Amino acid sequence: MVREWDPGTASAAEIEAVLRALNEIVAFDVPEDPPWRDVKFREYLAVTMPGERRTSWLAVDESGEVLGHASLLALEEIGVLELSVRPAARRGHVGTALLAAVARRAAEEGFESVGVEVIGGTPSIKFFESFGFECAFIEQRNLLDLGGVDWLRLGEMAAGIGAGYRVEYHPGGPPEQHYAAYAAAKEAARAAVAADLELRPSSYDAERLRASLATLHARGLKPYIVLAVHEASDTIAGLTEVVVPAQRPTRADQYDTIEVPAHRGYGISRAIKARMLFELRAAEPHLLDVQTWNATENEPLLKVNAELGFKPDREWREYDADVVDLLRRLK
Ligand SMILES: CC(C)(COP(=O)(O)OP(=O)(O)OC[C@H]1O[C@@H](n2cnc3c(N)ncnc32)[C@H](O)[C@@H]1OP(=O)(O)O)[C@@H](O)C(=O)NCCC(=O)NCCS
Repeated sequence: MVREWDPGTASAAEIEAVLRALNEIVAFDVPEDPPWRDVKFREYLAVTMPGERRTSWLAVDESGEVLGHASLLALEEIGVLELSVRPAARRGHVGTALLAAVARRAAEEGFESVGVEVIGGTPSIKFFESFGFECAFIEQRNLLDLGGVDWLRLGEMAAGIGAGYRVEYHPGGPPEQHYAAYAAAKEAARAAVAADLELRPSSYDAERLRASLATLHARGLKPYIVLAVHEASDTIAGLTEVVVPAQRPTRADQYDTIEVPAHRGYGISRAIKARMLFELRAAEPHLLDVQTWNATENEPLLKVNAELGFKPDREWREYDADVVDLLRRLK
């Protein structure tokens, strides 16, 4: 049975059951990944950016036990779905029933298409392809084991930035006076990678950035920022963002690293990413590794990541499907 579910008001027992199911799935599909903890897990599921909506569903058996979970995040142009079924309940069409609930809602909300991020080497690939989803974009997840970092060499990288630039560290988010420039740098970089499906909310102006930082904090995701400031013009020349989730504090997520085009060629990306690792080591004692996602064509960043010690891990794919076509296949 599939029913709509609100994690914001659900009982603590249900939140725990969903967490247990998620950890079974992680252990089965991506056993190298750390399990999730019951810290701000409700908030992680329930909170969205202002103006965005996430609808969730649970699949349960006759005794009420959770078998699977799905959600649909309504972004401006696309509905983004997440779907997972406990290993012991697979191949019994639980995933199909959850997908049907998601697809019906996406149609009701007027979405033409839905997108999903799928981890390479998991059964999700065959599942979504069997419903006509097409792969639109491929990224590589890369992993840096902090235990293997050569900190002496990293110190040289952190110092190796052109003259006239200052590096600043801002735990919690960039300072207010830089919001507009920060958002502009992010928007310019986003527009430059037009190929992906934009399945994650973006921060294209100062207001959105403010809302996005508040949302991160409310979901238990702590942002760390390192900036390169061009001293003569007092503008942002580069930025790098890492988030440490309260739910999974041993693994940090590297978000954007951006070099503003006018400031390329001064070693900015390498220096700010290296500095970030020093700051993380000091601020997050539980941290074991950092994961990041890169498009295979982003060669400059791949080179910097390789120098820092990131190693390719798994492929992550973005799939999308036309909603009308999907509903037809689900009948
Ligand atoms: C993808 C997933 C949701 C499918 O759930 P499910 O309940 O097993 O799917 P269904 O039984 O509804 O399968 C529907 C169709 O998908 C295809 N399919 C599903 N799993 C498949 C597999 N392992 N191999 C081949 N085809 C598969 C089949 O065509 C199947 O139809 P059939 O059984 O009639 O042949 C489930 O495997 C899952 O949760 N995967 C992991 C999710 C994830 O992202 N994990 C990692 C991050 S936490």
